[in-house]
Order: sequence, then structure tokens, then C-alpha cells
Amino acid sequence: MNRFDLSGKRAFVTGAGSGLGQAIAIALAEAGADIACFDLPGAQGQGETSAAIAVAGREALVLGGDVTDPASIEAAFDRAERAFGDIDIAVNSAGIANVGAAETMPQAQFLRMMDINLNGLFWSCQVEGRRMLARGRGAILNMASICGSTAIPGLEQVHYDATKAAVIRLTKSLAAEWAGRGVRVNCLSPGFMATPMNSRPEVAENVRTFAGMTPMKRMGLPHEVGGPAVFLSSDAASYCTGVDLNIDGGFLSI
Ligand SMILES: NC(=O)c1ccc[n+]([C@@H]2O[C@H](COP(=O)([O-])OP(=O)(O)OC[C@H]3O[C@@H](n4cnc5c(N)ncnc54)[C@H](O)[C@@H]3O)[C@@H](O)[C@H]2O)c1
Repeated sequence: MNRFDLSGKRAFVTGAGSGLGQAIAIALAEAGADIACFDLPGAQGQGETSAAIAVAGREALVLGGDVTDPASIEAAFDRAERAFGDIDIAVNSAGIANVGAAETMPQAQFLRMMDINLNGLFWSCQVEGRRMLARGRGAILNMASICGSTAIPGLEQVHYDATKAAVIRLTKSLAAEWAGRGVRVNCLSPGFMATPMNSRPEVAENVRTFAGMTPMKRMGLPHEVGGPAVFLSSDAASYCTGVDLNIDGGFLSI
């Protein structure tokens, strides 16, 4: 039996229209799962994600909503379960990044970061966990970052780093709370990955520098989050919960 095989499973992926969420949605489909792809309404990359899932021979369902609005997550999750049946795997990758000096950061910028990257991820876990706990099984995978564990010199994003540190802690606390009830909760901490988030002109110089600082001397490619995501979502990781898995070319080992 191949315990990495996701055939017959169904996954709900937030942020599926771009970058790492898209790469994970495709990787889970290649491993055999049908995928409910959740992103902001009209997110352009959703068509590309569904097309790649179809090439993998699996079903894709495109769902629009906003992680800051728990009712929209709940409505989408219910639609996914009506279309596919019980959701076994949830991946929470929706998020934003921007920069700003801490001493002058406007309140609105700080609060928006909290609202999407931390609060939105918690509302997602709550909707997903409630359904999974009722059935006594499920796997949730949250998107953290190496920036939740270390500050990067020259990268002024105290608000982003704070959300990612909180996602790591939230993941471990949820894992402990739900461990005896069949629901595993883990997170991924990517390093510098070549996604649209890192194509912003404001970080272009930093991205070159940080690729140089990475022991592997390059940025990660989006598909390189796929294998770790499949592993933690699969029965191969049945005794893994509360794990923060670094995918960083060795960045946190120096
Ligand atoms: N790219 C990296 O180097 C990197 C490294 C570590 C962690 N991450 C994390 O990975 C996750 C994905 O990043 P990415 O690089 O793929 O970014 P991305 O910008 O390519 O994709 C993010 C997706 O989230 C969606 N999204 C944003 N706000 C949303 C909302 N309120 N409701 C629903 N969907 C929303 C966007 O529409 C987009 O499709 C983020 O949580 C990010 O912090 C990225």
C-alpha cells in the first residue's frame, strides 16, 4: 500500500489561485485528490489551477470568498462537501505580504495583515476543523514562513513576521487541542520562493540578496512545496501533528 497516495480523498485549498496554494492544489491532485479551490472572487489564476488539476485527471471546483469573512469560508466549504462529499484535507495558503518601517507603519496596514494572515487563517481552521472533528478524521495544513522563526536583515515586515510566528504557535496549539479527536494540524515554513508575492518590485533587490544568503544559493520553486504538502496531508504522516516543516534550502539551519 502506498501511504502517500491521496486517491479518493478530497481537499479544500485557500489561496489556490496563485503561487504556493496553486502549487499545492496541483500536487495534491497529482497524488490523487479532488480539489476545491478557494480564492478571492475572480482570482485570475483559478482557471490555470483547475486546468492543471484536470490534466492530473482529478476534479476541480472553483470557489470564491474571502478568508476575512468566516461566512464566506463556511458557504464555500459546504458547497465543496455537497459537490465532492466529506473533505479530508484542508490547506490554508491565502495570505498577503508587504513592507513598511515599524516606527511609521499605519494602523490600517498592520491590522489588514493581521486580518488576512492570522485571523483569516484561524477562521479557515475553525470552519474546516468543526466538520473534521464531527467525523473524527482530517488533516489541516497551514502556511507559515521562515519569517515566523527569524527576522531577515533588511526586510522591514514586522507585521508579516508576527502573523507567521502566530501561525506556527496557533498550529501547534490546535494540534494539541485536536490530537485526541482524529484531526492533525501541521504547518509549512517556506523560505524564499519564486511566486508572484516575490515578484513585487519593492522586494526585487532583497530577493536577490536572500537567494544568495540561502545555503542552496537559490530561491525555491513553487512546486517544491508540493512534496512536503502531500506528505503531511497523507496517511504517511499519520503520527505527525504540530509539525512546522521548513522548506527553505537550509536557511534556518545557519
Ligand atoms: N512566496 C514566498 O516566498 C513565501 C514564503 C513563505 C511563506 N509564504 C506564504 O505562502 C502563502 C502563499 O503565498 P504566495 O507566495 O503563494 O502568494 P500569492 O500572492 O502568489 O498567492 C496568495 C493567494 O492568496 C489569495 N488571497 C489573498 N488574500 C485573500 C483573502 N482575503 N481571501 C482569500 N484569498 C486571498 C490571493 O488572491 C492569492 O491567490 C502566504 O500565506 C505567504 O505568506 C510565501
